[in-house]
Amino acid sequence: MNILESKDLRKIYGAGESEVRALDGASLTVKNGEFVAIVGTSGSGKSTMLHMLGGLDRPTSGTVVVDGRDIFGLKDDELTIFRRRKIGFVFQNFNLVPVLNVYDNIVLPIELDGNTPDKAYIDQIISTLGLESKLNNLPNNLSGGQQQRVAIARAIATKPAIILAD
Ligand SMILES: Nc1ncnc2c1ncn2[C@@H]1O[C@H](COP(=O)(O)OP(=O)(O)OP(=O)(O)O)[C@@H](O)[C@H]1O
Ligand SMILES: [Mg+2]
Repeated sequence: MNILESKDLRKIYGAGESEVRALDGASLTVKNGEFVAIVGTSGSGKSTMLHMLGGLDRPTSGTVVVDGRDIFGLKDDELTIFRRRKIGFVFQNFNLVPVLNVYDNIVLPIELDGNTPDKAYIDQIISTLGLESKLNNLPNNLSGGQQQRVAIARAIATKPAIILAD
């Protein structure tokens, strides 16, 4: 089964002289369990592509189907909930919440969904990623690699169907 499909994705930023065709007909299919790497030079559209695949931004045209659901057919609030449950996103710049400590950043998507974190699973993620001693730190008191691992922990904490790591 295909967990993720995009067809003919286009994203045009700006207009006229400042128009940028960041994506121009990008199609891709990912099967369940498959690991895919998207490679390209800086500015070639990788982040744009991942943001569309993750439903973080709407394309100019084209479709994205996640687990059988055409995500841009959803209303904004439905898409937010679908995204939170199905997709773990590791941002290129991590996007940690600066006023929350490491632990609260990691469980934030679970709590936003009104659920209680599965403590054993969260502890396992924290220890696998070597973050035990930093749980009370704010993000700006962490090294770049530590911040990146918090972002990864947050992305996998909800047990999403897909992880998109920019
Ligand atoms: N919000 C925006 N408004 C206007 N142009 C944008 C915007 N976001 C990205 N772009 C442009 O779209 C193109 C693709 O950018 P994108 O961030 O997807 O590249 P990338 O492949 O992720 O690059 P990098 O490897 O440096 O992260 C670039 O030319 C960029 O300047
Ligand atoms: Mg990028």
